[in-house]
Amino acid sequence: MADHTHHHHHHHGSGHGGPESAERQAALAAMLDLDAEVLRSLHDDVVDLVAAHAGDAGDVRRFVDLGSGTGAGTFALLSRFPEAEAVAVDGSPMMTEHMLGKAKANGTADRVRAVEADLDGDWPDFGGGLDLAWSATAMHHMADPARAMREVFAALRPGGLFALVEIDSQPRFLPEELGIGRPGLELRCRALLEPQRAVELPYLGADWGPLLTGAGFEIAAERRFEAELAPTGSKAVGRYAQLVLRGLRDRIAEAAAAEDLAVLDQLTDDDGAHSVLRRADLTVRAGRQVWLGRRPVK
Ligand SMILES: C[S@@+](CC[C@H](N)C(=O)[O-])C[C@H]1O[C@@H](n2cnc3c(N)ncnc32)[C@H](O)[C@@H]1O
Repeated sequence: MADHTHHHHHHHGSGHGGPESAERQAALAAMLDLDAEVLRSLHDDVVDLVAAHAGDAGDVRRFVDLGSGTGAGTFALLSRFPEAEAVAVDGSPMMTEHMLGKAKANGTADRVRAVEADLDGDWPDFGGGLDLAWSATAMHHMADPARAMREVFAALRPGGLFALVEIDSQPRFLPEELGIGRPGLELRCRALLEPQRAVELPYLGADWGPLLTGAGFEIAAERRFEAELAPTGSKAVGRYAQLVLRGLRDRIAEAAAAEDLAVLDQLTDDDGAHSVLRRADLTVRAGRQVWLGRRPVK
């Protein structure tokens, strides 16, 4: 069932007031794949929690991944629930194509259907009665999250579970002392993002509990998971840091000190002595917050 349903596609963009450029989308896709690879054990912990609340493995036959990106959640759940089929929804055709390419490569193409839809518009009809809905770091992009919670509730069967996975910030990589520039670069630069974030993504880092209960869900679990990976010199970590720090640099270009921007340029360069692709002192500090909402049986 690897058909590629085209839903209407109006203004979907970045949530930052315009469509993402192809280049930015490709960088985001690469970043999502690296996130899945580098933070595998963090994601496994999240999926373990979901599985512990979803009944027996065979109880999950149909699930949806909302804002599926390159399919990290879809594929983790397909392997955890071997009887299940997935509907992966994303507003970006580039993401759904990337996800389907991976499904072909990993042998799950017959278990995944991709739906391209803007979840700020009319929701696709999932046929009702879903066993599980999953959404990872996508709900904070919704224009009207309360409405999104009601849509999810309606799509689930009674007793069905909604796994809402969120972040409050991007992962961090750099030590205090870089051997170049002033200490504390990463935190200083990230602080510059805050005012922008509060306006553009007001639900980033929000408490989703009240939104879930407001839509009729019972909270089955609420957990925070943290990962702190010691430096290994891994290539994937270097590439992941490069993409995240380039994104940071773009967003603070107006606000940051010239000296800090120059250091970020050196860190994110492909070559050069300070490039994150060469450093052996990168850590990865990341977290996920998870809410499990259950649609009451009656
Ligand atoms: C940060 S990514 C997370 C992807 C994936 N869930 C993961 O955890 O790796 C957010 C995804 O949500 C999608 N998205 C954002 N707003 C959307 C909307 N209004 N409708 C559909 N998808 C949306 C983006 O295209 C992107 O693929």
